[in-house]
Order: sequence, then C-alpha cells, then structure tokens
Amino acid sequence: MDTYAQRLAVSNPLVEPIIRSAIQALHLPPGSQGLDAGCGIGLQALLLAEAVGPAGHVTGLDLSPQFLVHAREITEKAGLSERISYQQGDVSRLPFGDDAFDWAWSANCVGYAPLEPLPLLRELARVVKPGGSVVILVWSSQQLLPGYPLLEARLNATTSGIAPFVGGKRPGLHFLRALGWFREVGLEEPTAQTFVGDAHAPLSDDMRSALMSLLEMRWPGAQSELTPEDRAEFRRLCQPESPDFILDLPDYYAFYTYSMFRGNVAK
Ligand SMILES: C[S@@+](CC[C@H](N)C(=O)[O-])C[C@H]1O[C@@H](n2cnc3c(N)ncnc32)[C@H](O)[C@@H]1O
Repeated sequence: MDTYAQRLAVSNPLVEPIIRSAIQALHLPPGSQGLDAGCGIGLQALLLAEAVGPAGHVTGLDLSPQFLVHAREITEKAGLSERISYQQGDVSRLPFGDDAFDWAWSANCVGYAPLEPLPLLRELARVVKPGGSVVILVWSSQQLLPGYPLLEARLNATTSGIAPFVGGKRPGLHFLRALGWFREVGLEEPTAQTFVGDAHAPLSDDMRSALMSLLEMRWPGAQSELTPEDRAEFRRLCQPESPDFILDLPDYYAFYTYSMFRGNVAK
C-alpha cells in the first residue's frame, strides 16, 4: 500500500468505533442502496454495507484508482464483494443518473477544502431519490497531547493544523457551517451531531500504531512553522524514539471527534 492508504488502514482502530456509532444513528433502511463518495480504501463502505444488510448495496466511488484496488481487496477479504461495488469517478461529476440511490455518504471528502462544498452537495442530492438522505462527515477536532495544551494549540495554528480550512476562505465555507450549506442547496431538515472517540493507557498495539499514525498525519510540515523551542518540544513528545514519547505516558488520554451533517432530498 502507498503511504496514505497505509495510514488510513493503520488509523482505522481510532475511526471505526466512531463511524459505527454515526452509521447506527442514521438508521439506514435495511435493503437500501447507497453511495460512499470519496470512499478511499473502502473501510467505511464495509460498515455501510453491514448496516443495510444482505439485501442492500453500497457503491464506493473515488478519484484514485490505486485506492480502489485496495478497496476491492479489503472488500473481497471481508466476503462482501457481492454487496459492494467500486467505481472510479469524480464527486463533482458523478457517473450516475438522477435518483440512483436511496442515500449518499461522504466522509472527509465533501466539505474539505480545496473542494467547493455547494456544487458537490448538489451533485450528491441529484443522485439521491426524493426523501433520501445526504450525509457528510468530517474529522472535526482532537486533543492528543495531554499536559501540553500550548504546544497543541500552536500546532493547530499552523497551516497544516488548520487544514482543511486554508487559504483565506470565507468563514461560511468552514465545514462546521455545513448546516447552512444543506439549507442553501435545498436539503430539508438539516441536522448535525458530533461523535467522540477516545484512547487511554495502557494502549493496545493497534491503538498505539493508530495514534502514532495520527500524530504523523495531523500536523504534516508543521515543524517548519514552529519556533525552535516548540520544534524541540514537539520532537521530544511526538517521536517514538524519544524517551519522553507521549504515547508512553502511563496516564496517556486523548479524544477526537467526527461531526456528521445530514439533510433529506425534498419529496
Ligand atoms: C481523506 S480521504 C477519506 C477516505 C474515506 N472516506 C475515509 O474517511 O477514510 C479523501 C478521499 O477522497 C477522495 N477524493 C478527493 N477528491 C475527490 C473527488 N473530487 N472525487 C472523488 N473522490 C475524491 C480521495 O482520493 C480520498 O480517497
């Protein structure tokens, strides 16, 4: 697997419980047919397919053919190839007719810069039947460095820390303003809900690897924007070879959130 796909896989133990709770809250109709737009390596398509049961179907769509190769492998291993199909494509020009699905889901894709959210939400709404749901999820916050709130605040204030909200965008384009986007594109009864995941010492091997991967992914390139003192502190705390690696704290505790926005296509 390439590095990014590998990181999605390794960080899955952090993400999966939250995604399961989010999917449960949706009450997707058994036997329904849905779209996972920007499906990556298909980890969520598996959970969506489980939720709609053997009579249902999920189509995973992604721009990256390489991710889809991994997605097909993972789906086959899970024995779900009959219930999930994958298609390469662009969420801004979905290769599906109007009203093709009962619902559409997009996690960490629609709503993230540099993609403009409104045309993408309209496109998701176009392919969902009247009365069906359009759902987007975004990784919305994290507290990973217990005891070091200043360093964590400074990391979050770097360009990579405020990704995916970069480049002087209008405040209304921040993903936590998605309720307004749903209203603007005519999706009805928009709702928002935030789901929390957490991790504490002693960490299982899987959780430790997942958190290591998250520490690497969360603030890429941030070190060049830190003062020399903060950079040294970041390395002391966040590099596994350091004797003070933060994940080795006997009282380590962290949490992180996904926010889910949902609206219905007008009947
Ligand atoms: C951050 S990953 C999220 C993957 C998966 N949904 C998850 O949450 O684990 C974003 C995904 O969106 C895909 N993507 C980005 N722009 C896209 C577009 N215009 N159309 C379809 N997929 C896109 C990327 O290839 C990548 O797989």
